[in-house]
Amino acid sequence: MESGRRAVLTLRGVSKSFGGLRAVIDVDLDLYEGEVLAIVGDNGAGKSTLIKILTGVHRADSGEIRIDGEKAEITSRRDSIDAGIEAVYQNLGLVNSLPAPANVFLGQEPVWRVMGVPFIDNRTMRRETERILRERVGIVLENLDDPVHNYSGGQRQAVAIARAIFNTELRVLVLDEPTAALGPQETRKTLELIRGIKERGISVILISHNLENVFSVADRVQVMRGGRSAGVVEVAKSTRKEVLGLIVGSEDVAADAYA
Ligand SMILES: Nc1ncnc2c1ncn2[C@@H]1O[C@H](COP(=O)(O)OP(=O)(O)OP(=O)(O)O)[C@@H](O)[C@H]1O
Ligand SMILES: [Mg+2]
Repeated sequence: MESGRRAVLTLRGVSKSFGGLRAVIDVDLDLYEGEVLAIVGDNGAGKSTLIKILTGVHRADSGEIRIDGEKAEITSRRDSIDAGIEAVYQNLGLVNSLPAPANVFLGQEPVWRVMGVPFIDNRTMRRETERILRERVGIVLENLDDPVHNYSGGQRQAVAIARAIFNTELRVLVLDEPTAALGPQETRKTLELIRGIKERGISVILISHNLENVFSVADRVQVMRGGRSAGVVEVAKSTRKEVLGLIVGSEDVAADAYA
């Protein structure tokens, strides 16, 4: 397809069943450097399963994954992190009682020692969190010392993304329904945040049910239907109606039937 663009990630013929249920069937996917690829489709279409194959949560039954053109085996979370792939799921996985720095560094806290006794290096955590949020997520949080349950939805989203970015030399950020629980203003901020991440050269896979959001932030849209890839369109050359048609499997749909 599109020559001149570098594929970060290539899936060919990827399938995954749970018992007799074929969740993902023979799916091809291309993700290019610095693009936002949206994955849309009805409930149960196989979107989350597909991306969990990329993040090592599930192992594909068959098919091929290439990273930078090289054949890759993703059999664990570690493999996926080493490949620079991170995901932020809808629940964000934050510890609400802890402030942002403790959440970003969770399980990987820097330590300094006084007479052999380890202390968590809060100052470094705070400084690095502030830096990652500012330089790599593109957001400044005033209230870094507050527990994250005091944060807005968008701020919590930013902290979860900062953690994903901190974890690895991030190349691919997967966001599964990042705006599902957010109000309009927070949604707008999260979309800005996605644009900022893309500008920093990171490729984004965005799973969303919201076609308005998808069309405002994505470069291309891949539609999943019944476990299969039903089509891929370029946002600049497509319409919500066309995408909706691919989602439901019919050309004849009212574009406003799908929010
Ligand atoms: N761990 C699992 N065990 C068994 N079945 C599963 C598992 N995960 C997903 N499925 C099934 O696989 C199919 C695809 O599910 P998946 O979660 O990938 O869909 P989705 O497109 O993400 O849907 P949604 O929009 O509701 O999040 C569904 O029928 C689902 O019930
Ligand atoms: Mg899902």
